[in-house]
Amino acid sequence: MQLSAQDQQLLHDFFQTCKLNQFNNIGYPVSADFNYQELEKFWQFSLNNCGDWAGKANYNLNTFRFEKEVMRYFAEKFQIPFETSWGYVTNGGTEGNMYGCYLARERFPNGILYFSEDTHYSVAKIVKLLRIEHRVVKSLPNGEIDYDDLQRLIERNKNMNPIIFANIGTTLYGAIDDLNKIKSILKNSGFQKDEYYLHADAAFHGMILPFVDSPQPYAFADGIDSISVSGHKMIGAPIPCGVVLTKKEYVEKISVAVDYIVADDKTITGSRNGLTPLMLWYAIKSSTEQEKEIRVKRCLRLAEYAVEKLNEKGVPAWKNLNSTIVVFPTPSESVWRKYGLANTVKHAHLIITGHMIDNIELLDQLIDDLAVDMESCEFIA
Ligand SMILES: Cc1ncc(COP(=O)(O)O)c(C=O)c1O
Repeated sequence: MQLSAQDQQLLHDFFQTCKLNQFNNIGYPVSADFNYQELEKFWQFSLNNCGDWAGKANYNLNTFRFEKEVMRYFAEKFQIPFETSWGYVTNGGTEGNMYGCYLARERFPNGILYFSEDTHYSVAKIVKLLRIEHRVVKSLPNGEIDYDDLQRLIERNKNMNPIIFANIGTTLYGAIDDLNKIKSILKNSGFQKDEYYLHADAAFHGMILPFVDSPQPYAFADGIDSISVSGHKMIGAPIPCGVVLTKKEYVEKISVAVDYIVADDKTITGSRNGLTPLMLWYAIKSSTEQEKEIRVKRCLRLAEYAVEKLNEKGVPAWKNLNSTIVVFPTPSESVWRKYGLANTVKHAHLIITGHMIDNIELLDQLIDDLAVDMESCEFIA
C-alpha cells in the first residue's frame, strides 16, 4: 500500500512548514539545536521500556541500558548518590511532577500540597487526579512563592504533613523558589526533615542551573526529595520527554512485581517510550560537560543582551537570576502572534534556548518590533 498522491503532497507540505519554522521559536522553552540522525535507524524497531530499567525484562527490544546511564548522569547533576536514587525517562515534565506528587502522597497520605499561583497549570490537574488536599500560595511580583503566605498557610495546618511543590523556574517568569527559605519556614513551623516532602519542578531550568557559576539551591544536596525535568526543553528532542529522579526508598513503597512482564512496575504508564532514553543518552554523550556549560552560558548572555537592548529602547524588560526567560509588558496582538509569544493579560516573554544562539537576527527583529510597539503605546499592559 502506498500513500495517494494527495496524501503525499500533504506530508510534503507539512515537512516544508516544519523546515521553515524549525529555528524560529522564541516564545516557548524548546531548543531546536539537536541532531539525532544517527538514531534514525532505530525507528524500525518497536522499542518499549515497560517496567524498571534496573530489572531483567522479558521483552528484549528495550533500551534499559541507555536509560540506566541517563539516570546515572542526572543523579550526578542533581547531587544524589546513584545507588540511593531511582528515576526514569518520562513523557515530559508533567509526568515527572505527577510522579513526585504521587510518591509524596504515598509517603504522607494526609499531607497538604502547597504550590504557588505561578506554578504550571498541569499541577491543578495532578492534584485532582491524585485527590491531594492542596493550598495555592500567593506569588511575589517576580514569580517566586510568597514565603510569608506559605508560612501562614503551613502554620494553619500544623497537624498535616507539608508537601511542597517548589518551582525551580516558573513557566512565565523563570522564577526560582528559594529552597533555603522554604526549609527555614518548615523548621520554624516545627517540621523535621522526615515530616515533609519537597518536590522540585525544574522542567526548563533543571538543565540550566547545573551549568551556572552560582546556582540557587535546586538539588538533593539542598534537601529535595524528587525532581522533574523536561528533555525536549533545554536539551531538545523531537519527541516530548523528561526525567524524574527521587530516592530509592520512596519508590520501594509503590513498587509492584508483575508476572506478565517479569519486571517490577514502578512507573505511571505501562508501556514506556524506548526511543527517548536513547535520545537523552545520545544528547548527554555527544557533547562534553564543558560544551554544555558554554551553550547554557551563551543563552544566558543572550538573554541579558535582550534585557539591556529592550531597556535602552524604553521597554521595561527584566529577567530572573539564572534564567533565559525575558519578561516584558504584553505587546500588541500583531506582535505576539507574529513571534508566537506566550502571554498573559500583563506580561509576555521571550525565551532564549539553544538554537537562538545562532539566530540573533530574529531576536533583534523582535526587540525592534517591541520598541515600535512601546513608542506607539500599542502595549496592552
Ligand atoms: C515550570 C513548568 N513545569 C512543568 C511544565 C510541563 O512540562 P511538559 O510540557 O514537559 O509536560 C512546564 C512546561 O512548560 C513548565 O514550564
